[in-house]
Amino acid sequence: MPSPLTRRGFFQQSFGLGLGAFLWQTHHPLWGPNGRHHVVRRPGTDTTPLIITSHSNETGRKAMETVWEILMNGGSALDAVEKATNIIEDDPEDTSVGYGGLPNERGVVQLDASIMDGKTYSAGSVAALENIRHPSSVARLVMERTDHVMLVGLGALEFAKSWGFEEENLLTDKARERWLRWREEHSDRDDWGPPDHLRRRGEQGTSLSALWAETYGTVNVLAVDANGDSAGITSTSGLSYKIPGRIGDSPIIGAGLYVDNEVGAAGATGRGEDVIKSCASYYIVMRMRDGRSPQAACEDALQMIAERYQAVGLDFLPGEKFVAINRDGEYGCATMRGTRPPRITVVNQSGLSIYEGTIAFPADE
Ligand code: GLY
Repeated sequence: MPSPLTRRGFFQQSFGLGLGAFLWQTHHPLWGPNGRHHVVRRPGTDTTPLIITSHSNETGRKAMETVWEILMNGGSALDAVEKATNIIEDDPEDTSVGYGGLPNERGVVQLDASIMDGKTYSAGSVAALENIRHPSSVARLVMERTDHVMLVGLGALEFAKSWGFEEENLLTDKARERWLRWREEHSDRDDWGPPDHLRRRGEQGTSLSALWAETYGTVNVLAVDANGDSAGITSTSGLSYKIPGRIGDSPIIGAGLYVDNEVGAAGATGRGEDVIKSCASYYIVMRMRDGRSPQAACEDALQMIAERYQAVGLDFLPGEKFVAINRDGEYGCATMRGTRPPRITVVNQSGLSIYEGTIAFPADE
């Protein structure tokens, strides 16, 4: 089916604006009688509502259990994913998200987050945000209270403060001590090296999985509510010890997160640079639109990234993990490399479960 813009452009050119608009409105199911777009609502299915998170630890489980109530009482996917993410952002033990996240190379915690609401086809994000522990909630305000999608750095901070968010030091002792150790060791686990330098590290016999294990942690929370509406959030402190100002995939719509109400939602964790280049979350959702299951679509995205790298003679890196759900209540996850399958926490009407996905390219060892 031609895209609305293509068809609208065609009608405008061929018949003039008035006639074109009339024909467009009367022939396209998504446009109401006044020319206003109305969202096609379909009820949920037997297997929805559904909420998942890429975190399978205790906090992830607690977050899912807490917000299941919202979904069971007819609440929105949007409210559920925000509340769940806030719980995870609050966890001081989690060094990949929110309060307690690992800092940049100067010891400053800079957070990235995005949110997307399928029901209204709207999105918001913040990047390199300092001193605010719930970047996902600031992203929601960007989405709901501005006509922009993304705010970064000082602008994002000022925006958050204007809405009453309090500044606080997000660097916990645990994260500070790790950062100091990294600095003392003059570690090569930062992002200054070129790709061939990273490859050499692998050749020296160090397990790449071990090298990258903690440095790209992120959380995705995706949900479909009882109305069949989808929403998602991706929130992170990003690459640990990053160059100040480095922004990963998490706040970039289409890369770290994508939601399409007619299809479902997808999110990414792991090496953001690869995810940005591949627009992975958008790709996964489009694969699902073509009829692929969430599991198969996540694997397709990893295959696509590997092929791109192989095509230019580079070995691909191990970082990515993708998660996806569809509006029929199916879910999936897959990771690029590793020795253990990726896990997600799932809650639907059957209760809470931990789902193990697949490793697209298992480690050689
Ligand atoms: N996926 C998180 C990051 O690369 O920043």
